[in-house]
Amino acid sequence: MAAATIKVGIIGLGSISELHLQAYRRIEGVQLVAACDLNGTRAEEKAGKYGIGKVYTDYRELLADSEVDAVSICTWNNSHAEISIAALRAGKHVLVEKPLCRTVEEAERIEEAVRESGKTLQVGFVRRYDANAQLVKQFIDNGDVGGIYYAKASFIRRLGNPGGWFADPERSGGGPLIDLGVHIIDLCWYLMGRPKPVSVTGNTYKKLGNRSHIQHLSFYQAADYDPNVNGVEDMANALIRFENGASLLVDVSFTLHAKKDEFAVRLYGDQGGIEIEPELAIVTEKHNTILNIAPQTDNKSIHIEDAFLNEVRHFVDSVRAGSKPISPVEDGVAVMRMLCGIYESARTGEEVWL
Ligand SMILES: NC(=O)c1ccc[n+]([C@@H]2O[C@H](COP(=O)([O-])OP(=O)(O)OC[C@H]3O[C@@H](n4cnc5c(N)ncnc54)[C@H](O)[C@@H]3O)[C@@H](O)[C@H]2O)c1
Repeated sequence: MAAATIKVGIIGLGSISELHLQAYRRIEGVQLVAACDLNGTRAEEKAGKYGIGKVYTDYRELLADSEVDAVSICTWNNSHAEISIAALRAGKHVLVEKPLCRTVEEAERIEEAVRESGKTLQVGFVRRYDANAQLVKQFIDNGDVGGIYYAKASFIRRLGNPGGWFADPERSGGGPLIDLGVHIIDLCWYLMGRPKPVSVTGNTYKKLGNRSHIQHLSFYQAADYDPNVNGVEDMANALIRFENGASLLVDVSFTLHAKKDEFAVRLYGDQGGIEIEPELAIVTEKHNTILNIAPQTDNKSIHIEDAFLNEVRHFVDSVRAGSKPISPVEDGVAVMRMLCGIYESARTGEEVWL
């Protein structure tokens, strides 16, 4: 017997919703039935493009629609907690974009709502779902690099503060740390085997502003970009210590006097090393010789559309099976504890014990 169709609503129809919509459209047994955005014109446009029948500007009306089984939440970070909790209470399954929310307190309330509702909530840690991340996880899980004791990741934009809500701490919860750092901290932590974080120490800097004066170099800007508004840090760095003795060093920026952008994710074990970004590589030794292994894969670096397709497919499969997704709410809560701990450490100038 064919499985029942899963009917999906999308809340928030800005940039990233496109990748959710494209993915849902490619998955069998899924129907996009409802769309909601505060901006009615944007909602109408997207609904028209994807043949979605119902359009709302108030998410509560979408959640009251009994035809909707599951939602993707692609709104500003300040509404992730409120909409996730309301959706779960309305009996919907939830795929919520990263970061889970803005604070640990919000994260814990979402976790409680997941527990109470018994519905599926998947955090949109899309980088976990990239084929290369899953490939290296297989090597790690099989002991090919031994115990990972150090990881190091950078997500550096020399010029790339998107402005708009991203630059408004009330709506975003912070700057490059919560927006970009969330990706690389989560990916390293996941591949390290999710060791218990014990302390963080971090620094944030707001020295350069958004550098809207820069000419000859274009960068992505949010729809409501205003060069005069920017309340978030330019860059952050952090050291996270884990109970098993491992450590993770990260730095991230929206803007920095760097020669070029950098995206690097590296993990080091006692039997070998792994570089996922900028180019997939495994390092090991054999017969007293160091080997740099280049796995032969379709893509050397993340393939973002495929990663989103895998993420959304996994969400649909988890909903159907009633199984826990590989990025469950508790991982979202743990990552929020690390991120908020780093902001607190930067504020107080002290190491924060988690
Ligand atoms: N996984 C990734 O790689 C990735 C990449 C970019 C953005 N994101 C995340 O996706 C989310 C959206 O980012 P974006 O770049 O698409 O932003 P965006 O500004 O392009 O779009 C956000 C949309 O949400 C709408 N919105 C905001 N609050 C709403 C509410 N309460 N009800 C209904 N609609 C609401 C806005 O009107 C806007 O159209 C953010 O949480 C961001 O962190 C994830």
